Amino acid sequence: MKALILVGGFGTRLRPLTLSFPKPLVDFANKPMILHQIEALKEVGVTEVVLAINYRPEVMLNFLKDFEDKLGITITCSQETEPLGTAGPLALARDKLVDGSGEPFFVLNSDVISEYPFAELIKFHKNHGGEATIMVTKVDEPSKYGVVVMEEVTGLVEKFIEKPKIFVGNKINAGIYLLNPSVLDRIELKPTSIEKEVFPRIAADEKLYAMVLPGFWMDVGQPRDYITGLRLYLDSIRKRSADRLAAGAHIVGNVLVHESAKIGEGCLIGPDVAIGPGCIVEDGVRLSRCTVMRSVRIKKHACISNSIIGWHSTVGQWARIENMTILGEDVHVGDEVYTNGGVVLPHKEIKSSILKPEIVM
Ligand code: GDD
Ligand code: MG
Repeated sequence: MKALILVGGFGTRLRPLTLSFPKPLVDFANKPMILHQIEALKEVGVTEVVLAINYRPEVMLNFLKDFEDKLGITITCSQETEPLGTAGPLALARDKLVDGSGEPFFVLNSDVISEYPFAELIKFHKNHGGEATIMVTKVDEPSKYGVVVMEEVTGLVEKFIEKPKIFVGNKINAGIYLLNPSVLDRIELKPTSIEKEVFPRIAADEKLYAMVLPGFWMDVGQPRDYITGLRLYLDSIRKRSADRLAAGAHIVGNVLVHESAKIGEGCLIGPDVAIGPGCIVEDGVRLSRCTVMRSVRIKKHACISNSIIGWHSTVGQWARIENMTILGEDVHVGDEVYTNGGVVLPHKEIKSSILKPEIVM
């Protein structure tokens, strides 16, 4: 089987992290977001993944080359010369997706994290006889998503409304699809939205089905949701393979520590923390609800909560970092500095405190 991952867009809502890497390569729980998806696709027998991209494909391909070999999966790029939206890229990659076998293919948004129940999705799709299946999940705030109105028992989609202004339901498009090749006949090679132009038409023909996604789901394309997503992800690891989580007197709740990271004496870490490869956490550090990316150094007695620390940064001793502070790549926070919601661009040195949420350029 084949899969296409939509990796276009500039990831502006995840700046400053996306100033250093395209959104799909931003680490989530110690590995690039997109790897979570590629690994899960491989598990259900996908042999080729097409990345639908609209700028700098070489960055993605260089990065993923290693994983291509390790996972034994082919990864190719389909590059747009202008952004083609969420459906146009399917028309552009048509020859890569269709091989005459008539098999359906997967399409994924690149910023969604879940348990990726692809095997269940394939089974559901093969049983209903429609053209397309979308996975849906329930959320409290549906207005920022695509909302799906469906028949509960069969899953037949009656209506698909992208980002509705008035409440129509709380089941939303999870950004995970399985499509028959015939769907490609509905898409022209031009900027097109799959949510606004394609799904509503398939629904009108009574060929669109939805399956409620079992387990957790989160679009981690914005900092607050990213931090919530990590909590849900770690919770799900606790249920499925608890031995991957850190344990010990210095750990509270769910914590993921990369095997190459070093943790000092007298730290208290957790809940809901991910510490990436090569990190050094010195003595007496307190971490909760945060992500610490590759090769970060956190000096003695620093305290970090509800924040994201970008690659290769350092946090000084006795520093206090909180309230959705996001440090870009290679940021250096001085000793005893306090940051309350600071969003700091890459390669900066922070010598004085940031007292209220603001962008530091
Ligand atoms: N190749 C390519 N070209 N990809 C694109 C383009 C483009 O022009 N524009 C957006 N994408 C990719 C993004 O990188 C992302 O992976 C996906 O398409 C969806 O775009 P977002 O910008 O993340 O959309 P959203 O989060 O506002 O809404 C979408 O996702 C929701 C679930 O998270 C919609 O699909 C909603 O219906 C859905 O509920
Ligand atoms: Mg999104």
